[in-house]
Amino acid sequence: MDEQALSVRDAIISRRSIKSFNGQPVEQSEIDDILEDAIWAPNHGNRNPWRFVLAAEDNYEQFLEVLREFGVPKWKELSDETLEKQMGKFTSASAAMFVIVPEDARQKQRLEDFAAASTMIQNIQLLAWDKGIGTCWKTPGFIDDPKFRNVLGVQPGERIISMLQFGHFDELPKTKPRTPVEDIVTYWQAEPTE
Ligand SMILES: Cc1cc2nc3c(=O)[nH]c(=O)nc-3n(C[C@H](O)[C@H](O)[C@H](O)COP(=O)(O)O)c2cc1C
Repeated sequence: MDEQALSVRDAIISRRSIKSFNGQPVEQSEIDDILEDAIWAPNHGNRNPWRFVLAAEDNYEQFLEVLREFGVPKWKELSDETLEKQMGKFTSASAAMFVIVPEDARQKQRLEDFAAASTMIQNIQLLAWDKGIGTCWKTPGFIDDPKFRNVLGVQPGERIISMLQFGHFDELPKTKPRTPVEDIVTYWQAEPTE
C-alpha cells in the first residue's frame, strides 16, 4: 500500500474545495492513480455507474479553448484583459475531469447511481488532498448544454454530474462551519411500555 500522509478523519475534516489554483502542473498519471483507488467506492449492484473524460497536461491547454467557448459568456465581445480575467478560473487549474453517470430509466436505480458516483467523487477529492492536490467539484450550467455534451461524446441516457478541477494551491480557503450534529440528530427512543 502507498504511504498515506493523512488519516481518513484528518483528510475528511481538513479537505477544502480549492477555487484558486497556482498553476503548478499536475501530471495525468497522478490523476490516473487517484482514479484507480477512487473507483472502490460503494455502488449498488456493482454497476460501476461512472465514466470520466479527463483533460490533463497538454490536452488541458487545448481544452481551455472549449472552456472559453462554453464557460465565458460572449467571450468574443470581451477585451483581451477582461477575457484573461474571466478565464482565470480555468487557466489557473491544471486539469479538468468530467464525471458522467448513466441515467437509469428506473428512479431508484438512477438515484443509487448518482449517490454512488458522488461517494466516488468524494474519494477522488480526499485522495487528491492526501497528495497535496486541490480539487473543486463544479456544476457549471454548460455541463447540460447539448453542444458541450457533444464535444465530450456524452451519449443520450448519460449525464455529466461534475466538472472536477485539479491543481496546486498556495492558500487554504476559509472553513465554512457545518450545522452542528446536535441540531440534526433525533435520538429515537421506544415509547415506555406500561
Ligand atoms: C454537488 C456539488 C456541486 C458544487 N458546485 C460548485 C460550483 O458549481 N461552483 C463552486 O465554486 N463550487 C461548487 N461546489 C463546491 C462547494 O461550493 C463547496 O463544497 C462548499 O463551499 C463547501 O466548501 P468545502 O468543500 O471547502 O468544505 C459544489 C459542491 C458539490 C458537492
